[in-house]
Amino acid sequence: MIYHSVTATRLGPPEVLEVVENELRAPGPKEARIRVLASAVSRPDVTVRRGEALYSGTPLGKKPPFTPGYAVIGDVEAAGVQVTGVSAGDRVGVLTVTGGYTEVLYWRSDRLIPVPRTVDPAEAVTLILNYLVAWQTMHRSAKVRAGETALIVGASGGIGTALLQLGRLAGLRIYGVASAAKHWVVREFGATPIDYRSDDFAEVIRRAEPAGIDVVIDGTTRLDTIRKSLSLLRRGGRVVSYGEPASLGGLARILGTLARQKLARDGKSFTLYGTSSYFLGNRRPYEEDWATLFRLLETRQIEPVIMQRFPILEAARANELLESGAVVGNVVLVAPELLNGDASSS
Ligand SMILES: NC(=O)c1ccc[n+]([C@@H]2O[C@H](COP(=O)([O-])OP(=O)(O)OC[C@H]3O[C@@H](n4cnc5c(N)ncnc54)[C@H](OP(=O)(O)O)[C@@H]3O)[C@@H](O)[C@H]2O)c1
Repeated sequence: MIYHSVTATRLGPPEVLEVVENELRAPGPKEARIRVLASAVSRPDVTVRRGEALYSGTPLGKKPPFTPGYAVIGDVEAAGVQVTGVSAGDRVGVLTVTGGYTEVLYWRSDRLIPVPRTVDPAEAVTLILNYLVAWQTMHRSAKVRAGETALIVGASGGIGTALLQLGRLAGLRIYGVASAAKHWVVREFGATPIDYRSDDFAEVIRRAEPAGIDVVIDGTTRLDTIRKSLSLLRRGGRVVSYGEPASLGGLARILGTLARQKLARDGKSFTLYGTSSYFLGNRRPYEEDWATLFRLLETRQIEPVIMQRFPILEAARANELLESGAVVGNVVLVAPELLNGDASSS
């Protein structure tokens, strides 16, 4: 028996993604074998495939051939002999980082996220990475409070649209920075759009909010954006950047500049957000936040924006779309049987 996955045969554009065959095998003693229902196509998939990720070129960088794909939802098909806690038939999520563009995933059973069968797997997969980042930057890093004013830089993408929804739910007054063609989505979530191509977002905010704002959540992680964002804060204000810095040198410049600023003296703070503590530290906050997000999805308090669904093996086309710059919200790969209709409880 075989299954297919989509592999980057070398570093480069979406055309380097090829469908390959693999032998189906029994799971290892501590593994689960998962039939994939949905797989996220996200920005870090692009940077790692192009060799442009922060760690590309270092010993931590990914070398081809490898299967991209940062997050997955699927059904456990078989569990290894030492596995406890999950069994065949359970629906689970995985924060894979790489490996998600596949029909079948083998994964260690102690890293599986419980997923309700009542939700659409394509919507569910946006919670594993994009909504998690949005929730944690907003509630764990920025610790927002109802009534506060927030600026979302990069409001139209996968994480940006999640921030708009979660921000509205948290009772924030929101400005969203996005290109003009995507302002409709910012307005749809009750926020005020700002076009960064025709306007300087800092000038717009200074005019509209002369007393300053409380929070900036920034997906660009560029030094100029961070400097401007800090200048907009009132006392007690917070800037959180979650975007992948363009280079290690760029990251060093950001940290060096911030170290010279006396943020605490001015009652301001800056946080660089990342998900590495899930792999290196305490997984508890992640498990709690996924459980919260799944409750919000089940009760339709959040409705992920999915621009297009592709069959899993058409990951190259899905990546082309993401790289075109035309995407609003998320692009998701799904098992072919999910393309026509909702098989969420199948
Ligand atoms: N820290 C983490 O754990 C983590 C996890 C996942 C992703 N990330 C990083 O987070 C960033 C965003 O990810 P994503 O998945 O949301 O990407 P995405 O879906 O591609 O969205 C990025 C958005 O940024 C906008 N944009 C581009 N240049 C901009 C600028 N100068 N100012 C304002 N907006 C700009 C683009 O929309 P417009 O057309 O409107 O410009 C685009 O919609 C990426 O750097 C990604 O690698 C970090």
